Amino acid sequence: MALAPGTIFAGRYRIRALLGQGGMGSVYRAEHLGLGKDVALKVLGRLSHELEDRFEREARAIARLDHPGCVRVFDYGEDDRGVQFIAMELVDGPTLHAAMGGDVLSVPRALHVAKAVLSALAHAHGQGVIHRDVKPENIMFSTRSAFRVVLIDFGLASLRDAPALTGSGMAMGSPSYIAPERLLGQAHDARSDLYAVGVVLYEMISGIRPFLGATPQEIMANVLARPPRPLRALVPDVSSALDAVIRRALAKDPARRFADAEEMLSALTDVEAFEAAIAAEPAPPGAPAGALDGDADAEPSASMTMAQLSIFQPSLWQRLWSRIRYGRWRWRPSH
Ligand SMILES: Nc1ncnc2c1ncn2[C@@H]1O[C@H](COP(=O)(O)OP(=O)(O)O)[C@@H](O)[C@H]1O
Ligand SMILES: [Mg+2]
Repeated sequence: MALAPGTIFAGRYRIRALLGQGGMGSVYRAEHLGLGKDVALKVLGRLSHELEDRFEREARAIARLDHPGCVRVFDYGEDDRGVQFIAMELVDGPTLHAAMGGDVLSVPRALHVAKAVLSALAHAHGQGVIHRDVKPENIMFSTRSAFRVVLIDFGLASLRDAPALTGSGMAMGSPSYIAPERLLGQAHDARSDLYAVGVVLYEMISGIRPFLGATPQEIMANVLARPPRPLRALVPDVSSALDAVIRRALAKDPARRFADAEEMLSALTDVEAFEAAIAAEPAPPGAPAGALDGDADAEPSASMTMAQLSIFQPSLWQRLWSRIRYGRWRWRPSH
């Protein structure tokens, strides 16, 4: 249902412009007439009775979220024709999808975004809300405060999965971000959101998703049966610590992923410290750039001496600790 600019909706919103259109309806920039303030108004259309109840439960849960990384919802309901809507704060920046524009982000930026998303998810999961649709189109930036990352499109994905709305159950959008257990229609929990964060992180760094395919069916088959494409084959200077975090998030079995968003967030905080230590470290004389960048697969350079690998180098300890912590003890000195 398209609403023209100028239309008064539900007696209190004046439609200004269409912001986006997707599986669940349309999102408009609208003025809240009482507040004299612009908001994002998501108009869902008419729902069946069963979905209406579910929508109300979800909307209440989302409205209770109170975290800078979770879009703020302050109104929901239906207009006099029974059209359901939800009103949110208007986020002024682009989506991550638009911001990337098919390009990659630097590792520090990608870590910043992933950590912000995990912090928002930790809050939401703690309130019993699973996002269910974490992907670059649902991550926005607010330019009002310094690089605030905001998760939109919360929770309502369970409505989207409903056959009554889509006509075909889980057929909307790309299956690339959907965890295997959800593709299989099995019980799922907050850990399927962590899987999606793993996919987004992989994509931010490499520019492509870990599972590709010419059709949604082919992507699904790859998600279910194949290991992710090795990230370090695409981006060789990704540290083994970061690679290990992403591979753990992408584990097919939820039990092998991080237990919760906090645990994954803390692993990424360690990775960040590790990467900062590596970046700050002067290259040892004679060693090729990157020889000690935490690359556990690479053989140490032949020109490296024991003196350069001195145990008194604090950064060496950091590297060793990271390898133990992330289970990548594969470093073999050649001397
Ligand atoms: N709070 C918001 N502030 C600004 N733009 C928004 C907001 N929420 C959604 N949008 C825009 O509308 C698009 C679709 O919104 P979304 O909630 O993801 O719905 P769906 O994916 O179900 O269509 C987003 O990609 C974004 O461009
Ligand atoms: Mg969306």
